Amino acid sequence: MNAPRSLFGNIEQVLADAGEVAALLCQRGWAERNAGNISADVTELADVADGEFDHLPLTPLESACPEMACRVMLISRSGARMRDVAKNPSVSMAAIGISADGRAYRPFQGASGGMTRPPTSELCVHLRVHQSLRARSAVQSAIVHTHPTELIALTQAQEFCEEEKLNHILWGMHPEVKVFIPEGVGFVPYLRPASEGLAEATAAALDRHRIVVWEKHGAIATGRSLAEAFDLIDTPNKSAQIYLLCRSAALQPAGLTAAQLAELKEVERFFRSFGDSA
Ligand code: 13P
Ligand code: ZN
Repeated sequence: MNAPRSLFGNIEQVLADAGEVAALLCQRGWAERNAGNISADVTELADVADGEFDHLPLTPLESACPEMACRVMLISRSGARMRDVAKNPSVSMAAIGISADGRAYRPFQGASGGMTRPPTSELCVHLRVHQSLRARSAVQSAIVHTHPTELIALTQAQEFCEEEKLNHILWGMHPEVKVFIPEGVGFVPYLRPASEGLAEATAAALDRHRIVVWEKHGAIATGRSLAEAFDLIDTPNKSAQIYLLCRSAALQPAGLTAAQLAELKEVERFFRSFGDSA
């Protein structure tokens, strides 16, 4: 039997994006140890022939994802350090294929010469979100989960563990948040990392939002690219930073007024005309 060929030749650009985003996550200080995980649906780029990998063993999934049947994903490995993804994405990222019934996945051999570690412990979260993106024919195909320090800090205060209050602060601290996230960020109360409950609640919240904050844990965003998903976390985290900076200097931040927020629709339309907002 021939050794499975490398898939990575066809998905170079996505791997390069993964490396760039991983470097940014490290630069922001959001990537302690193995913090965070990223994935992209690369089916159209991966060029996998029907049945080509059927001889490779399947690993059952806890929850079936029929919309993802036969899809190919690039996903960070469990325990992968973002600093290693940045240096050599083809080693720290795994390519996996979902079975025809959507009930299992098989790791494909990649450029690293084999599956050294399984996909992220939060594979169930990524799959559930990809599944619902496909179910509603969304344009997004990439997911970034990370630990943005200041957004997490806000969720230590019960008053911000609620979408309306959280968005009021995030929109009010900087105009860019309202311009690029006019629908606001979503919020998911604390649930065990890597749990099916977290996967379900996150997919539901991401049906209404492109970025969701996980109480006392992190944030997860969807984008047309990994870079776009990163930006959706970076922008509101800047607002959280400004808010906390003001508070730690004993300043009471005024926030943008309702009229100032309303007039930002004009700016939002401007960027939308370039396709900057999905
Ligand atoms: P993994 O190393 O399994 O991706 O876990 C990282 C993480 O951030 C869990 O929430
Ligand atoms: Zn995490």
